[in-house]
Amino acid sequence: DWKMDSFVEDSIKAVREKVGNGKVLCALSGGVDSSVAAVLLSKAVGSQLTCVFVDHGLLRKNEGDEVEAVFGPEGSYDLNFIRVNAQERFYEKLKGVEEPERKRKIIGEEFIRVFEEEAKKIGAVDFLVQGTIYPDVVESGVGGESTVIKSHHNVGGLPDYVDFKEIIEPLRNLFKDEVRKAGLELGIPEYLVFRQPFPGPGLGIRIIGEVTAEKVKMVQEADAIWREEIANAGWDKKVNQYFAALTNMRSVGVMGDERTYDYAIALRAVTTTDFMTAESAELPWEIIGKATSRIINEVKHVNRVLYDCTGKPPATIEME
Ligand code: XMP
Repeated sequence: DWKMDSFVEDSIKAVREKVGNGKVLCALSGGVDSSVAAVLLSKAVGSQLTCVFVDHGLLRKNEGDEVEAVFGPEGSYDLNFIRVNAQERFYEKLKGVEEPERKRKIIGEEFIRVFEEEAKKIGAVDFLVQGTIYPDVVESGVGGESTVIKSHHNVGGLPDYVDFKEIIEPLRNLFKDEVRKAGLELGIPEYLVFRQPFPGPGLGIRIIGEVTAEKVKMVQEADAIWREEIANAGWDKKVNQYFAALTNMRSVGVMGDERTYDYAIALRAVTTTDFMTAESAELPWEIIGKATSRIINEVKHVNRVLYDCTGKPPATIEME
């Protein structure tokens, strides 16, 4: 793609000129946008870049290790990588909290606090990189959508808490598909570039009600099975977002001749173009059936699996 080719080349050149010998800090989530921004910066200024990856304990199964494998010292990029294992801190803060917006707020604030502490250890930096893309700019601008249905913690906020001189947003003019093209151009692995969206508050909003380490484990396992079965059936490219959530519902079941009283997992898969509206995907029953028996067999304390047939509106894509 000649256009992306020159975008990448020009951006690297521009960043290099702007940064000079400066120190650059990036909050890396492992998502498409922050990954592409980080790699672009790494190509431009190498180890003048430090990426901080906060593992809040609300990531998908193995996700923290996967991010570390790509961006860490064993990975393929020239940059400084800091992984903060803040799982316990987040679980502690979330203890007893059930209300969705409070959970989001706690996760967002704690994230900033952890990031700020790391930034302090690094000392004064010159530039802060953000993976802001064009739709983020439009959404958070004045005159746009005015109804905040859910707070999106990863838009805005960060800059106030970190000591830096200037912000760099290399993807500010790109749409999502262009970010992906740039990612490919930069040689980022396809599985990272074509990742489905994952919310900043992570599994925190896919566990209805109180979050505990045990519940995180349950939803991680169920979600890994669901994703695997969808991919095996070749449906991962036909739906836009798919995940498992842990409902707060427990119900009666039977296992052998034992009565059980355990949790229900909700499976979700949607098709959408802009994530503002979405349809529940009409998946072949085989996929749902296979995932259901695997989840029941492999995930402890789950005795019921439900498929979410609701579109957006009236539901949202996430459960909280
Ligand atoms: P909803 O649930 O509002 O989600 O229909 C629409 C899209 O946005 C994602 N989402 C978030 N992304 N931080 C994010 O970065 C958030 O707090 C957040 N909440 C929802 C969701 O995964 C879906 O793709």
